[in-house]
Amino acid sequence: MNDFVKNELEKNRLYFEEQLRSFCSCKPDAIPERLWQSMTYSLLAGGKRLRPVLCLQAAESVGGIREKVLSMAIALEMVHTASLIHDDLPAMDNDSLRRGKPTNHIIFGDALAILAGDALLAWAFQYPLSKLSEEGFLSSSIIHALSVFAEAIGPFGICGGQVLDTDPESFEPSPLFVKKIALQKTAILIKSAVVTGAILGGASSKQISAFENYGNHLGLAFQIVDDILDVTSTAEELGKTPGKDAKQEKTTFVTQFGIEESRKMALQESEEAAAVISSIGKNTEFFQELALSLAERSR
Ligand code: IPE
Ligand code: IPE
Ligand code: MG
Ligand code: MG
Ligand code: MG
Repeated sequence: MNDFVKNELEKNRLYFEEQLRSFCSCKPDAIPERLWQSMTYSLLAGGKRLRPVLCLQAAESVGGIREKVLSMAIALEMVHTASLIHDDLPAMDNDSLRRGKPTNHIIFGDALAILAGDALLAWAFQYPLSKLSEEGFLSSSIIHALSVFAEAIGPFGICGGQVLDTDPESFEPSPLFVKKIALQKTAILIKSAVVTGAILGGASSKQISAFENYGNHLGLAFQIVDDILDVTSTAEELGKTPGKDAKQEKTTFVTQFGIEESRKMALQESEEAAAVISSIGKNTEFFQELALSLAERSR
């Protein structure tokens, strides 16, 4: 990763981390204490903060102001965190380690973990709806951004993808099935991060469609590497349990194509991401370099 990308990423990650901490420091009175503890335990547990940073960067790259789209970035991290809390539940991947800490249900129990995830999902709409209005965005932009976001979460997105990932009766005996799962469970939220940022930053329809393409390729590369790291990495490096996919007999890029071929596929998706985003011209170096570096990430 070159220094420019590293600095940009770190600058927006630190900004986001500080804003999220401040957001979580003030519990609204009506939220029960234990629910708040469960929600903020997972929100503040760390993580790479890729989706919110992508949203802030996309907005800035098309001339928007990152402070104005902060609530969208927080909403993206709320949904991502909710998806991880639910993904780790005993009825799903049954994991006990996440972001270097015991998973939410291990600390708070299954009922609170389910409800904390649900609460984050709903607040991820309530919060940006009111904040973006206060920031003066046009209703049409808010509706556009939040409908892209909603599509990424429900049956067309994460819920659909997680069903394909976990339900044996949904299995399709095709080598492309694993790609279909990855597009729905992972790439669509990553795509919505850049697309919502671009919409709120004032992007043209050409720029928005380049970000859509970019997000799909980047998201696929991201999940391919996630599948590889599950086989090759350690709990210390990942902050989550390695070897889970094999233990649960998941269909992954590694089981379908092997590690070497999967590595090539991740690189190819990253190169395609870089190519599609370069087509919109200026201010895309960050996105190009990020795509190439994510193909080689180690955590
Ligand atoms: C993990 O996402 C789940 C996938 C979609 C592969 P991340 O690797 O972005 O998790 P954090 O946010 O860094 O913990
Ligand atoms: C995660 O897929 C997808 C979502 C959370 C939506 P994984 O099950 O591979 O993610 P990790 O490896 O547990 O982070
Ligand atoms: Mg899973
Ligand atoms: Mg999992
Ligand atoms: Mg995984």
